[in-house]
Amino acid sequence: MDKVICSLLIRSNRMKWTESIVKNGYKTCVKRFHISSRRDTELTSVRYPKLKRGNYSKVTDADVAMFERILPGAERVITEPSELEGYNTDWIKNCRGASQLLLKPKTTDDMSAILKVCNERNLAVVPQGGNTGLVGGSVPVFDEVIISTQQMNEIISLDTLSGILMCQAGCILGNLDNYVSEHNLTMPIDLGAKGSCHIGGNLATNAGGLRLLRYGSLHGSVLGLEAVLPDGEVLDCMSSLRKDNTGYDVKQLFIGSEGTLGIITKAAILCPQKPQAVNVAFLGVDSFSRVLEVFKETKKNLAEILSAFEFLDAESLRVGTDNLKLTSPISDHPFYVLIETSGSNSAHDEEKLTKFLESMMESGKVLDGTVAAENSKIQHIWNLRERVAEGLMHDGYCYKYDVSLPLENFYGLVSDMRDRLGDKVTRVVGYGHVGDGNLHLNATTPEYNTEVMELIEPFIYDWVAKYRGSISAEHGLGFKKRQFIYHSKSRSAVTVMKNIKGIFDPKGIMNPYKTLPDD
Ligand code: FAD
Ligand code: MLT
Ligand code: ZN
Repeated sequence: MDKVICSLLIRSNRMKWTESIVKNGYKTCVKRFHISSRRDTELTSVRYPKLKRGNYSKVTDADVAMFERILPGAERVITEPSELEGYNTDWIKNCRGASQLLLKPKTTDDMSAILKVCNERNLAVVPQGGNTGLVGGSVPVFDEVIISTQQMNEIISLDTLSGILMCQAGCILGNLDNYVSEHNLTMPIDLGAKGSCHIGGNLATNAGGLRLLRYGSLHGSVLGLEAVLPDGEVLDCMSSLRKDNTGYDVKQLFIGSEGTLGIITKAAILCPQKPQAVNVAFLGVDSFSRVLEVFKETKKNLAEILSAFEFLDAESLRVGTDNLKLTSPISDHPFYVLIETSGSNSAHDEEKLTKFLESMMESGKVLDGTVAAENSKIQHIWNLRERVAEGLMHDGYCYKYDVSLPLENFYGLVSDMRDRLGDKVTRVVGYGHVGDGNLHLNATTPEYNTEVMELIEPFIYDWVAKYRGSISAEHGLGFKKRQFIYHSKSRSAVTVMKNIKGIFDPKGIMNPYKTLPDD
């Protein structure tokens, strides 16, 4: 069996993409970010002075010695501040903790042993995968022990008939996709951070991404998982059955739990057949209502071959062309639509797409467009969409929002926010997974600005609640959004969530200050 050995990591916003490297005959990271200094990020405890550290123990020398006995060997118990820096700071440089201890288990038994000690010693912990999360969930707020799944990167098995992949939680998504594609399968999830994020992190955040329109959410694709509970108990839900109605489906609680219930150590994922033919169209339109008209027609005409429907506004495209020096394949327009088709017959799909686009151009709904079937051209177009998050970081500080809204109210939020923030910000952009009703609204300033923050929040959450949207479509609540949970969830639902947390983690050591609001 092939093994994926993932070497060091991302952890930067300087984001130079690098080539894959090959170890043990198998490709490791597909794309990686380079390490850069994160010291310029303000400590979370300083930015949020009202937040008080929970009544947890502090790590002692005796604790470190104990962890070194449990995790023998180099690079598994890390206390060196310079090495901890990247793990203490999130990708978007919004949050920085001050942990003095990083642990890297390799096996479920390792994980069980270290969590048992943490629980007995009342040490708070933060689980960390690829640290690409965008809501401050993956880094400590104070001095929580960081438990990284970086060394839990083995593929356990792949059943090529059923398409069921079993792997450890620290496998990098892009590596898994490379691996299964050699067997004519594909991962049911894809996102811009695939070169760094771990499958365990994907499950813990219930990540959405670019293929959700086609393959649905991870709640459907994950057949089984294994997690270690805060007291060290191993919860075995590692089923590989498509159908299993034997009582409550406990694994579902971990999908989207953001590390607050336990640490996911293994997963069984249903991988669809790899599409034989992929085509991508990039279109220019003159208004957001045209984007919606094109979406309606796309669903009708491309039906079973449609695999992604994304949009960018003109300002989002400029992020790529100005900050990343990408080139647009078409002339300038107020809005852009990216349509991907995936099927089994390239001639059939291409013909269908071309015919559809001709009719869109004739009707005047689409003003300009290009279609790509060749890999490098497809990637060029996808870069314009996938790399907006990266490009925004070049402006300085990024205020990132990820909301669900009914499509008829979708872009109104961006226009209102632009009016509200005016020239106090560098830009306001709107882009995202319009096919899933998921808008990414971002604003940037050269550095963090409290006045801008107070203009955005809670205004944005009130706006979303007014239209019965969700304040987090796919990124989760993490540290930054948990206090606004009531804008999207009822009091009774939050009470049930808190009760569930109490059952799994009675001492509250598991990723404190995340997801659930303070009382
Ligand atoms: P981390 O960032 O390390 O952790 C995220 C959360 O999960 C934290 O709360 C952490 O404590 C918890 N966690 C991590 N591993 C485990 C585990 N094994 N067990 C329990 N809890 C755990 N997200 C989307 O949904 N869609 C997108 O399209 C998308 N695109 C992105 C593009 C870019 C460029 C970037 C930087 C991020 C993007 N994200 C997107 C956000 C992010 O990549 C996802 O949330 C991803 O799933 C996080 O995985 P990770 O391994 O980096 O987790
Ligand atoms: C995306 O869809 O590009 C990601 O969710 C990242 C972002 O929101 O910027
Ligand atoms: Zn997204």
